[in-house]
Amino acid sequence: MATAGQVIRCRAAVAWALGKPLSVEEVEVAPPKAGEVRIKIVATGICHTDDHILKGSLPNVEFPVIPGHEGAGIVESIGEGVTSVKPGDKVIPLTIPQCGECSFFEPQNLLPDKTSRFSCKGKQIHHFLWISTFAEYTVVPEYAVAKIDTAAPLDKVCLFGCGFSTGYGAAINTAKVKPGSSCAVFGLGGVGLSVVMGCKAAGASRIIAVDINKDKFAKAKELGATDCINPRDFKKPIQEVLTEMTGQGVDYSFEAIGLADTMIAALASCNMSTGVFVMVGELDSGSEISIDPMLLLTGRTWKGTVLGGWKMRECIPKLVSSYLEKKFNSDSLITHTLPFAKVNEGFELLRAGKSIRTVLLF
Ligand code: APR
Ligand code: ZN
Repeated sequence: MATAGQVIRCRAAVAWALGKPLSVEEVEVAPPKAGEVRIKIVATGICHTDDHILKGSLPNVEFPVIPGHEGAGIVESIGEGVTSVKPGDKVIPLTIPQCGECSFFEPQNLLPDKTSRFSCKGKQIHHFLWISTFAEYTVVPEYAVAKIDTAAPLDKVCLFGCGFSTGYGAAINTAKVKPGSSCAVFGLGGVGLSVVMGCKAAGASRIIAVDINKDKFAKAKELGATDCINPRDFKKPIQEVLTEMTGQGVDYSFEAIGLADTMIAALASCNMSTGVFVMVGELDSGSEISIDPMLLLTGRTWKGTVLGGWKMRECIPKLVSSYLEKKFNSDSLITHTLPFAKVNEGFELLRAGKSIRTVLLF
């Protein structure tokens, strides 16, 4: 493309400091170095984790930073040695890269060579999880890019970069929900509703959705929940309600909120000897949980999952193919689509509980 090898000036949402709203700025994006790919981001979802950056509840984030990690786009140019993608390919950038060489995480505030490709007003801007999708162009390592089907609608499959894959994978990969089983899902945001879809796809016969916002129930039912309950409608603790509803507690419970209390309630809601609880929500960094050890001693299992346990580079293209075959309806998570300039409005909708997913279009 005509821009290959050149610095591109384009729009990006910059978080200059903790607690400040994002500011849409003109930034400079340097060309990709060896082993890197520059992507023109077409669409990006707003995930709760992006809000955690602004609130300072995520560890290892350095300001100023360009957030965003749920995007999809088209390769604009490639650095030396890149072989798996070429300009024009449709791609999803990955927050958990799969390089095939190592299995540990390293800080992702800068690219692997410890420099940034972003600058604004003469200042270096940090990357977020290497992929910073709140930028019209972003540069990522080749091993943090998944090439997807050319037929994929980028304004829909961007959700596979985080929210959908996280929730759906929590049910399919982490819990390995069995046909005919019972499940409880705490929290019906984009992540929790994706758990509901995963439980349904895995053949669960009972899916009990739990949220304090009853406006979320209609969509949960549409996606497969068999029952929807609001803990505030009961005098007794929700774990007792769920145990009574199912006889001995659910087979699998999931927490997609990010609060210690609801994690403990979800753990206590599953069968005392065989139940599996999957922690999906993120607690604020530095927080600790204390539980009654009896909850585990009797035989329950507590599991955690990051991005749904997928091997992202291999699995995202497969998820996109399943989407194109209409195996699940992740589109129904998208309640709002806004032009990129309205990014802060998108965050307001999220904080007010009015949106499931907002997709921003460049
Ligand atoms: N009990 C039940 N539901 C609750 C409670 C509670 N005490 N508090 C909040 N909720 C519900 C909200 O009403 C909302 O529907 O949890 C849901 C959370 O949804 P979102 O804010 O849209 O968050 P989402 O993007 O789905 O992410 C959920 O997963 O990956 C993590 O960082 C992410 O921790 C976050 C979680
Ligand atoms: Zn996310």
